[in-house]
Formats: sequence, C-alpha cells, structure tokens
Amino acid sequence: MKGLKTVYVCTECEYRSPKWMGKCPSCGAWNSFCEDVEQITPEKESAAKRTSILASATENHAVGFSELEISDYMRQKTGLSELDRVLGGGLVLGSVVLLSGEPGIGKSTLLMQICDALGKSRKVLYISGEESGGQLKLRAKRLGVIGENLFILTETNIENILKETEKISPDVLIVDSIQTIYSSLVNSTPGSVTQVKESALILINKAKACGMSVMMVGHVNKEGSIAGPKVLEHMVDAVLYFEGERQQSYRIIRAIKNRYGSTNEIGVFEMSDKGLIEIENPSQMLLAGRPKNISGNCAVCTLEGTRPIIAEIQALVTPTSFPAPRRTTNGIDYNRMCLTIAVLEKRLGLKFYQNDVYLNVVGGLRLDEPASDIAVAMALISSLTDRIIPDDVIAVGELGLAGECRAVSNLEGRVKEAARLGFTKAIVPYRNVEKRPLDCGNIQILPIRGIYEVLNLMKAKDEA
Ligand SMILES: Nc1ncnc2c1ncn2[C@@H]1O[C@H](COP(=O)(O)OP(=O)(O)O)[C@@H](O)[C@H]1O
Ligand SMILES: [Mg+2]
Repeated sequence: MKGLKTVYVCTECEYRSPKWMGKCPSCGAWNSFCEDVEQITPEKESAAKRTSILASATENHAVGFSELEISDYMRQKTGLSELDRVLGGGLVLGSVVLLSGEPGIGKSTLLMQICDALGKSRKVLYISGEESGGQLKLRAKRLGVIGENLFILTETNIENILKETEKISPDVLIVDSIQTIYSSLVNSTPGSVTQVKESALILINKAKACGMSVMMVGHVNKEGSIAGPKVLEHMVDAVLYFEGERQQSYRIIRAIKNRYGSTNEIGVFEMSDKGLIEIENPSQMLLAGRPKNISGNCAVCTLEGTRPIIAEIQALVTPTSFPAPRRTTNGIDYNRMCLTIAVLEKRLGLKFYQNDVYLNVVGGLRLDEPASDIAVAMALISSLTDRIIPDDVIAVGELGLAGECRAVSNLEGRVKEAARLGFTKAIVPYRNVEKRPLDCGNIQILPIRGIYEVLNLMKAKDEA
C-alpha cells in the first residue's frame, strides 16, 4: 500500500528499526523484534479521529482524595471459586484482566463458564473475534451455560465494538482475543504490536471511564510470554496465566500481576467434556496414583498463597555416560537443585558428580518455595542410595548451605494438611518446634536440625 512501510518493533521497549535485529540496542532484550507496518505520514483526519476516541473515553477531572469512595472496588463473584481466589476474592468492577495461555488450554471455555454466574446480576457482552456465534452457542450448550443477560458480538473492529458497547452498556466485557481486535485508524495488521497496544488502550480507557470490567484473552508466543507489547501487562490490573500439561487434564491458573489481590494464590481445575471442574482439594489429585516402595519419591507440603498443597517430588539419579553429567528439572528451579546437590556432596560426602540427575514435580506444579528443599534433598538421596522413603512420610524445611535445616512459615497449616491426607510422620525443622511443640492430631513429628539427620532417619526406616 502507498505510504506504508515495514518496521521491526521491540516488544519489550517498542524501539523501532527498519531491519530485524537479534538484540535490541535500546533495552538489550534478545529476540524481541517483530514485524509491524507503519504509516509514513499519518493522515491528519485519522490522527484527529484517534485522539478524539481516546479523549472521549477518558474525560477526567481531579477529585479530592477524601471524596474518593472505596465502594468503587466492589467485587463480583464469577461462579468459579478457584478463579475468584486467584482474582483476590472476585472480579473487581471496573478492572481490566488479561487472561493468557497456550492455544487449546481452555481460555474461551473458562470465560464462557463464568458468563452464567455474572449474568445473574450483571449484563455481559462477549466479543468474539475468533469464533462465530454458532460455535459459541455450541460450546455454551456443552457447558450447560444458559446465557441470561449475555450478549454476543462477533466483531474485530474496535470502533464498532465501542459503538455496540455504548448501545448495550454492559457491566462486564469479555474480549476473545485482544490479538484479533484492530483499529481502522492504525495502519498495521491485527495482532501487531501497535494494534494490540492501541486496542487495549481504548478498551482500558473505556473500562475506567464507565466502570465496566474487561476480561481479555491474550495469546502467548512460542516462548510462552504474552504476544504483543510488554506494556500490555503494565496497562492492565491483573495478568492471569492459564497453564497445564497438554497430555493431562489438570489446569492451573495463577496471577502474575494483581492490583487487587495476592499473586501467590493458584486455582486448580480439571478439563472435562462439561468444561472446567474446580478442584478444591488439589493435594488429593496430585497424590493420586503415587507409586509405592520406589526409591526417589518424597512428599512435600508447599504453600500456594494461603493454601497448603501436598506435592510429590521424584528424583532419578543414574550413573552417567557423558563427560559432564546431565541435570534436568521440571517444576523446580534448576539452580536451586544444583545448590542442593552441592550441599549434599560437601556435607554428606555423597557422589552426585558421577551421576545424571532428573528431578520432577508430579502434576505440573511448580515449587518455588525454599521449604521444599529438604524433600528435594531426600528424594535425591533416596534415589542415589536406593533407599525407600515410606509413603506416609512428609518432609518440610529449607536447606542452608551448611547443611542445616531452617525454619519455614505456617508449619502448623502444612502438617495439618498432611495429617488430613493420612500421612503419619512429618519431618520438620527443629527451629520451628523448639519453643512451641506442634499438636496436629495423629501425626508423629520428627524435628531435624540438619540434613545429616535425614540420612539417619531414612536408614532407620529402611532397616525397620
Ligand atoms: N467435547 C469436548 N470434550 C472434552 N473436552 C473438550 C471438548 N471440546 C473441547 N474440549 C477441550 O477444550 C479445549 C479447548 O478449549 P478452548 O477454551 O477453546 O481453548 P482456548 O480458548 O484456550 O484456545 C480443548 O483443548 C479440549 O481440551
Ligand atoms: Mg479460544
């Protein structure tokens, strides 16, 4: 087209370059350039129109701080308590939420499912840029969504969407997905950095101006981050990631950013033909099908936000046939594993350097907490020495560089969860129970001061 040129835009800082570059000279990010089309001389008319659209949505006046009302932040339950938990207790009216995840993970399913509960007291407008009304109806039928107060608009042009939004004036606007929406006043293809940013900006302004909640779907690129400009994540109030193993039916939703709640909470679902089913008791799900009497397995109780969750750590330590042994992790930080191995080699004299080490957390869970260190160490020792950790043992504690076992937060909550699920012995940091003994029902507490005591405990159990 006349007056158009191709440029390459850095998705991190929006630096523009006529040529593709591997590294951004402005922010130093690698592989962050994507192609965009830009108008050489913006038409005066469309530039003016664009400004007026943005301005009409955001005509604001200064307000005295004492006059501001908290009731603006009323929360609306979405009907899925696992999603409410991640949002910080419900969808805040007037907030903008970005939901991202891989294709086919269930973003559209999740949004369709919450329409029923939201529709009971609010008007919902569902903008579909990817699927036809018929397809949506078919899905709604499968999910058992009736769709009272639900309006569907299959449209990708932001100006038309705004017009329709003004007509219907919904309380909740669902946009599936932001990458398909385009503004005719910006001359680049839908999904490009400029278009995504422009459309999101218009939607956010509209949401703030009329107190409407917006939930938009964001695609992810092949590196797993949200496609489009990085500023998109800064512009919205909450960023939720929907993830899960493709082969398994479990789905975990977590907040990467939340202006109205904690980012530690996770929500757990199972995908079925009737849609996403909430899993209120994830520990049971994660422990299902646990192998018995196999070395290298250790149970741990981790805290996800306020909720204790029991997870299973599996280690496989095998003699290496490579000059440098292989080490891989899944669900645990790689460097944290290397550190744990180094502590075990130095303090216990175990020989990991002749072995490959594979570490896995079952069920697609990610353990970022240092409180899982002792369990990781035990799984590693168990696999290396081929000693079995009994099924009814759970281990919690942080491992220090001197091999000491350090205290963890909310030990009582963790041990209670373990007792509830039938564990009978809990290996806990001595520091936690030194002053105040734990009383958690039918579970035997085994306090340890350092990792060397674990070795004794394992040996003793093995011989018993
Ligand atoms: N009839 C069905 N029975 C069971 N699961 C289904 C059925 N139809 C779709 N699904 C599940 O829903 C997923 C698609 O969900 P969808 O919400 O369209 O994903 P997204 O919007 O994230 O791309 C599929 O990957 C599949 O797991
Ligand atoms: Mg979809």
